[in-house]
Order: sequence, then C-alpha cells, then structure tokens
Amino acid sequence: MIATSENILVHKEAGVLTLTMNRPEKKNALTQDMYAALADNVVAAQSDPETKVVLITGSGDSFTAGNDLGDFAGSDDSPKGENELPPVGRYLQAILNAEKPIVAAVNGLAVGVGVTMLLHCDLVYASPNATFQTPFVNLGLVPEAGSSLLLPKLIGTQKANDMFLLGTKVTAADAEKMGLVCSIFDESALIEEVSDRAKALAAKAPNAVILTKQLVRKDHSVVAQQMADESVHFSAQLKTAEFAEAALAFAERRAPDFSKL
Ligand code: COA
Repeated sequence: MIATSENILVHKEAGVLTLTMNRPEKKNALTQDMYAALADNVVAAQSDPETKVVLITGSGDSFTAGNDLGDFAGSDDSPKGENELPPVGRYLQAILNAEKPIVAAVNGLAVGVGVTMLLHCDLVYASPNATFQTPFVNLGLVPEAGSSLLLPKLIGTQKANDMFLLGTKVTAADAEKMGLVCSIFDESALIEEVSDRAKALAAKAPNAVILTKQLVRKDHSVVAQQMADESVHFSAQLKTAEFAEAALAFAERRAPDFSKL
C-alpha cells in the first residue's frame, strides 16, 4: 500500500506524476510521514505504466526548508538493513534508484535535502526568487543524499565547500550559472512551463528516455556507497552536543554557540 500524507499532494496527468510538498506554514519542512508518501509514490511510479515522469515541487513560497528540525531530532536514522530504512532513507534510495526521469520545479527556498534531492533530479527548473542552501555544518551535521560527491562534481569543490562549510545561500541566477538549475521561469509561469516540459518528456520514447538517464548517471554504485558513508557520520552527528546546540538555537531563534564544545 502506498503511504499517504495530507502534506504531500499527488496528481497524475498525461504521464506525469506530480508530487507537491504541501506544508506551506512550515516552509514545506519534511516530516517522516511526508518522506514515506514521497518514497512510496516514487517507487510505485517505476512500475506504473501510466507514469513516465515524476515532477516534484512545493506549495506556497518554498520548495522545502529541508528536514523538519523537530522530527529530525526525534528520528532514528541509524543505518539498518535495506528493508528497515526510515522513511527519509527510503526516499533517498527511491530517488537514487529511480529509472524514470524526475523533474523538479523549485518555486522558492530550497534548504538541506531540498537541495540535495535536486542532485538526483534529471531536470531542475526554478523561479527567480528560488534560493539554495545546504547548512549541514551550521547544524553540526554532514552532507547527505550523496551530495558530498555529487555537488562538488557538479559545481566544483570551492563552490561546494562555500555551500557546505559556510552554509552560503545561492541565488537562482547563480544556481543556473553553476549548472544546478537548467532554466529559470517567472514565478507565475514556473509550474506551467515545467509541467509542459514534463509532459513533453512523458510523450517521448520511454525506453530511450530510461536508457539515456541510465547512461548519464553511470556512477550509481559510487553514489550509493557515498550515501552509505555519509549516513554513518550523519547518524552519529545527530547524537552529538553539536547538533543538540544547533537544534536548540533554531527553536530559540538565535545563532548556535559551539564555542564550549
Ligand atoms: N523544520 C521545522 N520547522 C521549520 C523548518 C524546518 N526545517 N524550516 C522552517 N520551519 C518553520 C519555522 O519554525 C516557522 O514555524 P513557526 O511559524 O511555527 O515559528 C515556520 O516554518 C516559518 O519559518 P520562519 O523561520 O519563520 O521563516 P523565515 O522566512 O524567517 O526563514 C528559513 C525561513 C527556511 C530560512 C528558516 O526557517 C530556517 O532556517 N529553517 C531551517 C532550515 C534548515 O536548517 N533545514 C534543515 C537543513 S539540513
């Protein structure tokens, strides 16, 4: 059975399965329920003859502010056997292993996994107000989703470190220059432009599309290993005083103080 969440909207039309992260009052921050619904829908799409393309977007003014920081602290993300992965792990595996193309429409801020999931998307479009930030170190954490390999490969080590180590926010225009984004469309036209492209892709020869994706992403096993390595450090960091201070600082709306750690 496919998990559902009131915070993930699912719409299928013309071969395109659109998954909308829909928790706008929390900037679409992702909870375990939301990851479960995303994971199950992406996995089910692979064997659904009616779905040729998956489109991921967010509602309101955000793509997603990343993992829900409260949920994060409560979740057990320690590495387990493949069948016992927590929902976040299942979602990351689902987008890593997806054979059918994934298209993203980044309609506002993208933070943390909001950026790292894009590295598994085959076409990424954004609105001019979109921003991209991976503040893992700011939170006492390490990059995830294979991003410590994929981001430097895409934008270069220096720019990746600027995002990872300093948590620098990247604008849509810079993201396009860096190759993180394919094209930018006006905010009001974004979802329509991206849906049109997703539908056009869905109408193309399906096997040729799948094979092309496979050829372009030929480093699959290396990325899978990197994800496993990241996950060990990520889980360990979640249990440290570094993350506890960062999470408390977020809740208290202040800057974290790591000086005594
Ligand atoms: N987890 C849980 N709640 C989150 C969240 C997250 N990742 N991101 C935003 N929210 C919540 C806020 O707590 C706030 O809730 P409240 O209205 O009940 O207080 C609401 O969403 C709106 O966010 P707010 O901070 O008021 O908006 P903003 O425009 O000033 O800032 C962000 C937006 C995304 C820059 C800021 O919320 C932020 O830094 N969030 C954390 C992002 C993050 O570190 N993600 C994890 C990366 S690994």
